[in-house]
Amino acid sequence: MTRTRCDRTPAWGRLQAHYDTAGRGFDLREAFAADPQRFGAFSQSAPHLFADLSKNLIDAKTEELLLALAREAGLEAHRDAMFAGEHINATEDRAVLHTLLRAPASMTVPPSLAGELAQVHATLDAMLAYAERVRADHTITDVVNIGIGGSDLGPQMVVRALDAYVAPGKRFHFVSNVDGHELAGVLRGLAPEHTLFLVASKTFTTAETMANAHSAKRWFEQSGNVDIAHHFAALTTNVEAARAFGIETTFGFWDWVGGRYSLWSSIGLPIALAIGPEGFRRLLAGAHAMDEHFRTAPLVQNLPVRLGLLDVWYRNFHRFTSRSIAPYHSALQRLPAYLQQLEMESNGKQVDASGAALPLGTSPVLWGEPGTNGQHAYFQMLHQGTDVIPLEFIAVREPAHDLEGHHPKLLANALAQAQALMVGKQDAGGHRNFPGNRPSSFFVFDQLNPEALGAFLAMYEHRVFTSGALWGINSFDQWGVELGKVLAKDIEPRLASGDTAGLDASTAGLLARLR
Ligand code: F6P
Repeated sequence: MTRTRCDRTPAWGRLQAHYDTAGRGFDLREAFAADPQRFGAFSQSAPHLFADLSKNLIDAKTEELLLALAREAGLEAHRDAMFAGEHINATEDRAVLHTLLRAPASMTVPPSLAGELAQVHATLDAMLAYAERVRADHTITDVVNIGIGGSDLGPQMVVRALDAYVAPGKRFHFVSNVDGHELAGVLRGLAPEHTLFLVASKTFTTAETMANAHSAKRWFEQSGNVDIAHHFAALTTNVEAARAFGIETTFGFWDWVGGRYSLWSSIGLPIALAIGPEGFRRLLAGAHAMDEHFRTAPLVQNLPVRLGLLDVWYRNFHRFTSRSIAPYHSALQRLPAYLQQLEMESNGKQVDASGAALPLGTSPVLWGEPGTNGQHAYFQMLHQGTDVIPLEFIAVREPAHDLEGHHPKLLANALAQAQALMVGKQDAGGHRNFPGNRPSSFFVFDQLNPEALGAFLAMYEHRVFTSGALWGINSFDQWGVELGKVLAKDIEPRLASGDTAGLDASTAGLLARLR
């Protein structure tokens, strides 16, 4: 594996010089005035998706230097190593093969991965056959997914996003929090004999999920029901633990699927139940089309690469610390939360792959709400605040409803916000002036259908891969979540006993107050 951290490449210095001379003072309005072709030059189609990057603080020279940076950092070799199944997740000594989950059975893969691909399809076929049976089983009216992080956010976000494709007759619930209010609230509306629980956990050891799964099982058994086999299924790599829990129906996956990259695996069962096996295959097909784009398109027309490079430019040269996601589609309500885990858990790192401290910023903060709601809340700060926060607009050409007049209003707002951020207003005086020159990207789907969503999510995965590769980090581990888990185990019995020995004064004081 030959990777060079981006700040150690010759292109890095050239980019810094370019930033100092042309980047810092770059003005979008001047750039559009000077170049009538700018929209065409900085927008592109990719599978199932159109992306306009022209309202970003880049010129042709910036992109040229960023592409040189990618080449010098060894991005292409690192990408190929991932697809080849090399153990690029070095701290866990694992391959990173979520792309294999969406590869067609007939695809030619390296001989070392042929066995994995066959297993992927055998599991997928079994999982989809089960989904078909449950969809036809009208005694099951409610499906409860119990899982957290990657075992919750992906399936939940996709089931909500593809609401227009969800067959009537079943309701879908997602319980993630160890806070009993969540599970209790869901159980209150359920009848055990009509409920299917899916216990989703890659490790089958996650404290929150296990607590919720045990409580759900107790609730089920206390109601006099015994048919666990019909009412519980597990989605996990830890088949043994699921069996020990008492679940017979288990769909497995593999350690080379990271939790935040797992919606394409058996963790996607709620999606298959909601939109059907065909819909799930369409989601996979959209993602695969994007995988092929990322794997084979020249870097200059490779959308995830261009976006990942833009992220490096903004984070390390402009030093923007945040990015806001603005999906102009209410069904994409959970998308910002999903992308938070994808990007911040992957790239929120302070050491490089060799363990050396990084001298540069990594993951920005991602956040957002569907438009137009955000406009009436925090867009004030985006337009007139003191920080520049790049925005990401997502708009869909054809709505899935026929309410008259709504969609043009929605689209007009998306376009107007991006325009206002860029153009600004200088002649209104004082409080009414807008600085403008605030960057945004704009993504367009023809429809919010399974293929388009699959392609968009895969695009985001590869974009996060790109910036992580340049920063020289391991985007596929998550050691940063461990310390809090360990300390919670120590604190929990203290809440019962009141023992505060050895705790810092603040934790001790709060513990006493919470008992
Ligand atoms: O604590 C973080 C994490 O490990 C995530 O990476 C993961 O998606 C989540 O917990 C859930 O893990 P599991 O699927 O093993 O229950």
